[in-house]
Amino acid sequence: MTAVERAQGLFREVFGGEPALVVRSPGRINLIGDHTDYNDGFVLPMAIDADLVIAARPRSDAEVHAVSESQQAPADFELGSLTRDIGWGEYLKGVAWALGPGGLVGWDGAIASDIADGAGLSSSAALELATARVFASTSGIAWDPDAMALVGHRAENDWVGMNSGIMDQLICATARAGHARLIDCRHLTGPHVAIPERAVVMLLDTATRRQLIESQYNDRRASCEAAARQLGVGHLRDATLETLETGVLSPRLLARARHVIAENQRTVSAASALAAGELRMFGGLMNQSHDSLRDDFEVSSSALDAMALAAREAPGCFGARQTGGGFAGSCVALVDAERVEAFSQVALAGYNRQTGNTGKVTVCRAADGAGTIEL
Ligand code: GLA
Repeated sequence: MTAVERAQGLFREVFGGEPALVVRSPGRINLIGDHTDYNDGFVLPMAIDADLVIAARPRSDAEVHAVSESQQAPADFELGSLTRDIGWGEYLKGVAWALGPGGLVGWDGAIASDIADGAGLSSSAALELATARVFASTSGIAWDPDAMALVGHRAENDWVGMNSGIMDQLICATARAGHARLIDCRHLTGPHVAIPERAVVMLLDTATRRQLIESQYNDRRASCEAAARQLGVGHLRDATLETLETGVLSPRLLARARHVIAENQRTVSAASALAAGELRMFGGLMNQSHDSLRDDFEVSSSALDAMALAAREAPGCFGARQTGGGFAGSCVALVDAERVEAFSQVALAGYNRQTGNTGKVTVCRAADGAGTIEL
């Protein structure tokens, strides 16, 4: 069954009757540019063809009642008196809070998702954007993808407490099918770049998950902010590799800053290479990105390293790297469209030999951003 059918079925079972609307948001995979977004830098993500779906019906009061196929407990709250709690419902509450709950109409909703949790595919941004899409429909708010990305981002940072950058929400909201997007995270602008047909984006899930990633992530972000302060710039986006030679930074902060500055350059170059169809050059930049995340930013893991290396050695691979926040989750590879089968087999076997883990490989097609589904 599709996520749409599952959400509709769950809705009927829990709330009775038919949903009035069905909305979707994709997850995302980042081709290159990690830990750059909160440094006002550049990223090159695309939305993937796996959705989180909410089947919903407006209520005549200001209550939200949501259930999810992957969660035991429901999320129930009153828009007039939002209070912080723990659990998955905080993402929905955070979105209501960021929209300004005063004029919002309540709803009943059932959630189903094909985006694996903890795999580094931004299931949380998808939940935020899909929630915003439901509120926009039930409460008559015009759907402005950029504004809604900012709403999701505020929900996650200021309500949930994860100091993430804007990449995930912005790509989930604004993605275009068949394209990645080079996003300038300072100006929230940037071109959509078509993915050439002879290349396929592959997701390589290491099947490893890690708890407490938030604190590590927030720690890396704090290091970047400290490095920028010590270098006398507002954000590392404004620093250059030459300024690092002045010796003001400790070895650790220097390595963090070096990653960010070089990753920004790689990301901009990679977007040009993709647009020009220079896939080998693109893949080389992906490989460099992984090595920098491993050695300088230290957000890799032995499983991510083993997967990236196994992928690079597999037939048809242009390049491979860890994707997203890191510590566990997935790698991404760019692969020759005619070698997908052989690539998958060899990469998974290599990863298994190295780690004993059974990984998973999926072809990702670049999808459109969040929206409603015609019933
Ligand atoms: C997580 C965050 C993003 C971004 C990546 C790393 O996915 O949500 O904002 O910082 O990590 O690039």
